[in-house]
Amino acid sequence: MRGLFVTGTGTEVGKTVVAAAVARTLAGSGERVAVFKPAVSGLDDYAGGEELPDHELLRTAAGSSQSDDEIAPYRYGPPISPHLAAELAGEEIDPARLREAARVAAEGADVLVCEGVGGFLVPLTLGYLVRDFARDMGLPIGIAAGAGLGTINHTLLTIESVRAVGLEVAGVVLTPWPSQPEDLERSNREAIARLGRVRVEVLPHLDLTAPDTWPSLDLV
Ligand SMILES: Nc1ncnc2c1ncn2[C@@H]1O[C@H](COP(=O)(O)OP(=O)(O)OP(=O)(O)O)[C@@H](O)[C@H]1O
Ligand SMILES: [Mg+2]
Repeated sequence: MRGLFVTGTGTEVGKTVVAAAVARTLAGSGERVAVFKPAVSGLDDYAGGEELPDHELLRTAAGSSQSDDEIAPYRYGPPISPHLAAELAGEEIDPARLREAARVAAEGADVLVCEGVGGFLVPLTLGYLVRDFARDMGLPIGIAAGAGLGTINHTLLTIESVRAVGLEVAGVVLTPWPSQPEDLERSNREAIARLGRVRVEVLPHLDLTAPDTWPSLDLV
């Protein structure tokens, strides 16, 4: 399976934006792109708003015709960890079902872009973390991270956690990257590249309603 698994240094750090930009770039060069997200929670927060939930933004960016179920087999209302959201819904996330759904998603496409949930060690069940699913997928890992204070530590911890299970880090993406970066952001970028021995890309602030205006982000 060819593609990218996008994790992040935590929740709300830009994973969806990064995964969407990568998917858009691939689609723009003529590839058939499938997207996947093992679990989406917090759908209650989107009700009636203009912002798209993760699986919908990913689908639009990729130009994919996958259904909600094909992209994100487990979807929950409350904005909480997927293992707890599943428990409150009276079920448990089934790793075998996730692996099968990801395989089916990839089958119809040239390349698969998968977004994780929260940070890399978030539980899908108490015995199966996002990292375990990423390892089962075996795709190179993209890491979304903030550009500001605190990002060096969070990013290096995530890189260690990825490499500890033998997965490859395709690159770190600092997002949103300010239009006029200060010494802090430039220094963060250099420190992460050097200490993490990793490629570091940056993503400017995007208009999420206009994928045609996005710069390309080539991580696959
Ligand atoms: N480059 C960017 N351009 C525009 N908005 C951005 C950018 N990077 C991050 N954001 C904003 O930061 C917030 C978090 O981004 P995003 O939804 O991608 O995070 P996430 O890590 O996928 O969150 P979750 O853990 O809920 O899946 C969003 O409101 C998003 O619009
Ligand atoms: Mg997201």
